[in-house]
This record gives sequence, C-alpha cells and structure tokens, in this order.
Amino acid sequence: MSDLFDKLPQEVSVYEVSPRDGLQNERVMVPFGDKLRLIDAIVAAGVKRVEITSFVSPKWIPQLADADEVAHHAHAPAGVQFSALVPNAHGLERARAAGLEEIAVFISASETHNRKNVNKSIDLTLRAFAETIGPALALGMRVRGYVSTVWGCPYEGAVDPRRSLEIATRLHAMGCYQISISDTIGAGTPRQTNDILKLMLAELPSASLAMHMHDTRGTALANIVVGLEMGIRDFDASLGGLGGCPYAPGAAGNVATEDLVYMLQGMGIATGIDLERLVEAGRVAASIVGHALPSKVQTAGVRSLRS
Ligand code: HMG
Ligand code: MG
Repeated sequence: MSDLFDKLPQEVSVYEVSPRDGLQNERVMVPFGDKLRLIDAIVAAGVKRVEITSFVSPKWIPQLADADEVAHHAHAPAGVQFSALVPNAHGLERARAAGLEEIAVFISASETHNRKNVNKSIDLTLRAFAETIGPALALGMRVRGYVSTVWGCPYEGAVDPRRSLEIATRLHAMGCYQISISDTIGAGTPRQTNDILKLMLAELPSASLAMHMHDTRGTALANIVVGLEMGIRDFDASLGGLGGCPYAPGAAGNVATEDLVYMLQGMGIATGIDLERLVEAGRVAASIVGHALPSKVQTAGVRSLRS
C-alpha cells in the first residue's frame, strides 16, 4: 500500500510576507526603525525571501508610506532576496530607486475585490501590467505575481477556478517567474485546494506556482499539505500569523511562519530556517505591533518539546 506521504519534497522555499502583508493591516503605524528590526530578525532566522514593503499609494495603505526608506535601509545579505509590491509605473520607479531586484504585481480573480483593491477592472489591471512587468524585466528585475481571491471573494462569494487559471496563465506568459495563488479571506478547504491545483497544474509548471494562504478559518496548514502532496514547493507565510488585506473585510492573517516551519520540520522537509530564531523573530513582530499574535507555535514555544 502506498504511503500518504510518498510524494513529499525534501525541501521547500518559504516566502515571508509579515513586513508587507502583516503590517499593512495593523492599526498602529510601526516606526521605520522597528520595521528594520523585524526584517533583520527574519533574515537572522535563515529566511531567504522576504517581501519587505509595498510601493503602493500611501493614501491607500498609510502603514507602508515609508516604503522608500525601508527598502533603502534594509540589508539583504548574500543569498537573501527582498521583494515589494508594485501597483503601477510610479511604484516600479520607487522600487528601482531603492535598489530592489525583485517586485511583485497583484490582481484578483474576482471583479469586485480587484476594483476595491486597485480601483480598476480586471481587464484594465491586466493591461496596466505593461507598465510594470515588461519594464521591470527590462531592468533585470525578477517579477512575482499574485492572484487574489482564488478560494473565494469577500464580496462575490465563490470564484470560478477557471478564471483564476486564466489570469495566472496571463501573468506567467507576461514573464512572472512565479504566481502566488491566494486565499485572501482564508476560506479554502482541502478538497477545494485539490480541485484548484489540479486545474492549475494541468496548464502551469509546479515551480511557477506558490500558495499564499490566509488562516481565517484555521484551514491554511491542511490546504498546504494538499499543495505539498500535489507538487507545490513554495509557500508564503507571515510571522506570528500577522496580516490581512484592508480591502478584504474579515480577512485574518496569513498562515504563521512558525507554524508552517514547525510542521515542515516535523515532516522532514528542510526550509533552511532555524525554528528557535524564527520564534524569537515572532516575538519581535508581536512587540512592534503591541499585541499577542495568533501563531500556535509562538504560544506553545519550541523548547518545551525537548524536556
Ligand atoms: P487610484 O486612486 O485609482 O490612482 O489608486 P491614482 O493614480 O489616482 O493615485 C491616487 C494618488 O496616489 C495620487 O496622489 C497618486 O500620485 C498616488 P495625489 O495626486 O492624489 O496626491 N499614487 C502613488 N503614490 C505612491 N506610490 C504609488 C502611487 N500610485 C499612485 N505607486 C492604486 C490606484 C493602484 C495606486 C491604489 O489603488 C493602490 O495603491 N492600491 C493598493 C492597495 C493595496 O496595497 N492593497 C493591499 C495589497 S494586496 C493584498 O494584500 C493581497 C495579497 O496579499 C494576496 C492575497 O492575500 O490575496 C497580495
Ligand atoms: Mg495576503
């Protein structure tokens, strides 16, 4: 009889989004110096890919209005890749001026969320990628893409996975090296994840897909196990479980990086991340936002397992 975990990989890549997805949804304005402390703590734990901020309009996301300063001063040691969200040509120019070598563009699979988030239709957003993706590639940058609301939309409810696939395929054809399909409101369940990934993986290489799972209903890790089984090797996560989209009412944080790494480690899957240092970084995250965070591993601790 075959083992349920026959197809597990030996290693996966974790893409940390707490300085961006995490802080964009906090009520407090985290001071610039604290953002740098958080990024340093994430890097010190061994995380190799970090989304450090957003070059979006400060009128829309005031929490990240200091993106230029953060990106100028954050230090990426050799082998660490920083990235940031870019919605338009102005955002790309800011990212370039700050010396970033990777950007992320974003769009939703549902019309209403897309309009609420970027004030444009899906069609216009796809057309406007001509001012970001192509020029960024021409500058030698790597471009990542997000497709939001793949597992459901806070305004429209169910989303047809064929629409998500169509948009992801367009992003891939435009030159995004990876498309992070997102459960923006944390509504997904494992059977649905299986169905979405089956459709996507029939058209796109597994290395071109990542999963970005918010954990609003506690199903993120279960969905990630399905992703692992089906060949996904890239997972977004946020320290402490920080995060949410201000234009997706009710959305809670991403899967907590500590919880994801704890699970992967227990399954024998390497991430290059030191769990104890990651938990310390999670404490930095909690202290700078001024409240406890939902990560289960953060709450339980890792040391107690050894005694
Ligand atoms: P708009 O109001 O339609 O555009 O916003 P605009 O061109 O009229 O610009 C409005 C003002 O913003 C202008 O300033 C622009 O100069 C300025 P004013 O003339 O009024 O003084 N502006 C900018 N300033 C700095 N940098 C820029 C920039 N662009 C314009 N790049 C826009 C359109 C796209 C800009 C706006 O809707 C926006 O910034 N949206 C971003 C919303 C956002 O960041 N949402 C959260 C991130 S997405 C997410 O969380 C989902 C994800 O995690 C995956 C998942 O979970 O699903 C990725
Ligand atoms: Mg998100």
